[in-house]
Amino acid sequence: MQEFHYEGAQLTCEDVPLTQVAQRFGTPLYVYSKESIVDHCRHLEKAFNGQAHTTCYAVKANSNRAILEIIKDQGFGADVNSQGELFLALQAGFDPDRVTFSGVGKQDDEIRYALKNKIYAFNVESREEIEVLNSIAGAMGKVGRILLRVNLDIDAGGHAYISTSLKQNKFGVSLREAREILQWAKALPNIEIRGLHSHIGSQIQKVETFASAAKVLVEFIKDLRSSGLVIHELDFGGGFGVQYRGYIRHEQLPQEGGEEMNISAAVLVKTVLPLLQEAACAIAIQPGRSIIAHPGVLITKVLYRKQTEEKLFVIVDGGMNDLLRPSLYNAYHQLVPLELKNRPHEVADIVGPLCETGDFFARDRLVPQLHRGEYAALMCAGAYGYALSSNYNARPRPAEILVDGSAMRVIRERETLNDL
Ligand code: LLP
Repeated sequence: MQEFHYEGAQLTCEDVPLTQVAQRFGTPLYVYSKESIVDHCRHLEKAFNGQAHTTCYAVKANSNRAILEIIKDQGFGADVNSQGELFLALQAGFDPDRVTFSGVGKQDDEIRYALKNKIYAFNVESREEIEVLNSIAGAMGKVGRILLRVNLDIDAGGHAYISTSLKQNKFGVSLREAREILQWAKALPNIEIRGLHSHIGSQIQKVETFASAAKVLVEFIKDLRSSGLVIHELDFGGGFGVQYRGYIRHEQLPQEGGEEMNISAAVLVKTVLPLLQEAACAIAIQPGRSIIAHPGVLITKVLYRKQTEEKLFVIVDGGMNDLLRPSLYNAYHQLVPLELKNRPHEVADIVGPLCETGDFFARDRLVPQLHRGEYAALMCAGAYGYALSSNYNARPRPAEILVDGSAMRVIRERETLNDL
C-alpha cells in the first residue's frame, strides 16, 4: 500500500513522477492514486473476514465523482450529509438502498429528496427531526427508516472541533433520551425503527476508545431488547485514525514519528468487531479518512524564502484555502520535496500566500531545504483536503488529477477567474 514512493530521487505516484504531473497541470494541485484508493477499500474490507456488514463511505471526506465511482466499484455504500452529497453519490452510481443520510440539520427539501430517491435510512439526531420526517414521509405516502444516533459521552481524544460524542456536543441523544424517543417513535405511522447509530469522533487512534463505545452500545441494545424494542442494526460510524507523521520514509528525509505509527483502520475494525457482534444485529461502518487520506497529496511550489529576525519562512503557492486542516485543527501533514537532491534540513515555517497568520502548512518544522520554483508534496491530504477548500482571497480552487498506473486524468478542472 505504498503507491507514493521515491524512484531514485523522484517522488512517484504509481508509475508517474509527480514533477511531471505538477509541470503539466500547474500548482497547487491535488493528485490521487487509484490503486491506493482500491487498496485502502480492500484492506479495510478484509478486516471483516467474511462477516456480513455494510460499509458506507463517508462522502464528506472527498466527494469527487471519479473517486466516488472507484469506491462504489469496491462494493461500498455511501453515507451522505447533505442533498449535494446524496446527488453526487447517486450520480456516481451508488445503490440508493446502500445510502444513509447523517447529520443534525437535515432540511425539509433534503428529506424529501432523500425519500424520493429511496435511500436506505436516515441516521436521525433528535425527536423533532423524527417528527418532521414522519410528517414529510406521510405526505409523500412513504415510510422513513431510521437509526437513532446516540451520544455516549465518550472522550475520543483529538481536536475539540472533531469530537462528537461528548454530552456537550450537538450530536445524538443520550441513552436515557434514546430509550424514551424509541418508545415514542414506535407508534409513529410513517417511521420504521431500524436501530442505532453512533459516530464518536474522527482520527481516533486508540483501540480502547472504540472498544469502550462498542461495549456501551451492545449493553444498551440488549437492554432495549429486554424492554420490547426491536433493534435490527448498529451503525458504528467512522473515525478510524490514520498515520500522518512519517508516512513517506527515506534516509534523506527528517525522521518523523509518533504514537499514530502503529494504527490502521483494519486493525481497529478487527479488534472492535467481535465486541460489536455481541449485539446480534447487522453491523455497518462509515469510514471516510481511512479510505481516502493516504491516496491523495497536495503539490505546491515554492515562491519565496524569507528570513526574518525571528524565523525562516518558506512561502509556497498553496494556502489554507486549498488545505485548511493545519490552520483549523493544527493538523500535521508531512511535507516532502518532489526531488530529493541530498538537501540539508532546516527549521522553517511553511506558509501560504493568504492574508492570515493562520495560513500555514507547518510551523517550526524540520524540513528539507527548498528553493524558489521547487515542488513539495503535503502527504495524506486526500481526506478533508479538497472537500474543505474555498475561494478565500478570491483564489481559484486547484485541479484534481487521478493517476492510474502510467496514466493521468483530470478529475476536476482547476477553477479559473471566471469561476470566482
Ligand atoms: N460518519 C459521520 C456521521 C461523520 O460525521 C463522519 C465525519 C464520518 C462518518 C467519517 O469520519 P472519518 O472516518 O472520516 O473520521 N474535517 C475533519 C474531520 C471531520 C469529520 C466529520 N465527520 C478533519 O479534517 O480532520
